[in-house]
Amino acid sequence: MKIYRNAIRCNICGQVIESAHHYDFVRCKCGACAVDGGTDYLRRVANRGDYTELSITDESIGAQPPEFLGKVVVVTGGAQGIGKCIAEMFEAQGAKVAIIDVQDNPYFVGDVAKKEDMEAFVQKVIRDYQQVDYLIHNAKPITVGIEEGSYEEFCNALQVGVAAPFYLTKLCMPWFGRNAAVVNISSSRDRMSQPQTESYTAAKGGIAALTHAMAVSLAGVARVNSISPGWIDTTDAQVDGADAYQQPAGRVGSPEDIANAVLFLCSEKAGFITGENICIDGGMTRQMIYHGEYGWERK
Ligand SMILES: NC(=O)c1ccc[n+]([C@@H]2O[C@H](COP(=O)([O-])OP(=O)(O)OC[C@H]3O[C@@H](n4cnc5c(N)ncnc54)[C@H](O)[C@@H]3O)[C@@H](O)[C@H]2O)c1
Repeated sequence: MKIYRNAIRCNICGQVIESAHHYDFVRCKCGACAVDGGTDYLRRVANRGDYTELSITDESIGAQPPEFLGKVVVVTGGAQGIGKCIAEMFEAQGAKVAIIDVQDNPYFVGDVAKKEDMEAFVQKVIRDYQQVDYLIHNAKPITVGIEEGSYEEFCNALQVGVAAPFYLTKLCMPWFGRNAAVVNISSSRDRMSQPQTESYTAAKGGIAALTHAMAVSLAGVARVNSISPGWIDTTDAQVDGADAYQQPAGRVGSPEDIANAVLFLCSEKAGFITGENICIDGGMTRQMIYHGEYGWERK
């Protein structure tokens, strides 16, 4: 096991440098970073945010540093469900996660429908971490239909689902680190509907289009992609029978199915992907249904 006490990994050349003795001043091979063992603190001598602090006892660090170690991740709606799973998966890889949610959570309780809450939240993130690497817009808009839904409810869904991703991204833009990424959580409902779902569906259509608009505007600043989940069970329920088999994959999805894709889109493996949407629905939107087939008939 490798134990780092006073070490950094340079984000430019990737070298891990350590300083064990008080007279050591060790510089990485590209010269962007240095560790000063004498004063027992990590010293950066070049650009802001170009190193990752290694202060964790972790044998995996010695072999290959986890890609998200020390990265700063913002997750909206991270108190439960898919957002919580995304937050936990990033944390497990050493990232620092900042959640905003109306529900109780370890970081910031606030409403992304409120401009002042978003501003206070981003101020706190910057005060705590000085930068943002990944921004995950996941908070869930309400569903109201055209018959029963009010004008105010419809507008609230668009505030949570579209205006908040726009404004939070705008607030974070000056603070994006190198290789920053934004992931918008849309829904397969951005392309298909049930009756009486207008507010949610419009919000998901909005965030899907916002994705390619921001991908173009943020070229060179951050990659911007969206994920459209299908039926994702966030309750550990046992879903089987027709509910499972209506998906060609033969099951409903799990929060991990979405979180894995979020981490992939944030990683350097996805460095050539921007403005794109991935629909993760077990193939449900690809299944054509005809009268009399697969037990389906109109009654
Ligand atoms: N679960 C699914 O089947 C499914 C399918 C398609 C898309 N999605 C999308 O995935 C995302 C997460 O869904 P989920 O199933 O985990 O939902 P969830 O209801 O379990 O969690 C949503 C979270 O968003 C928070 N939130 C809601 N309004 C907020 C606001 N105004 N400000 C701050 N936080 C707010 C809630 O408190 C909650 O913690 C949503 O965007 C949802 O539309 C989910």
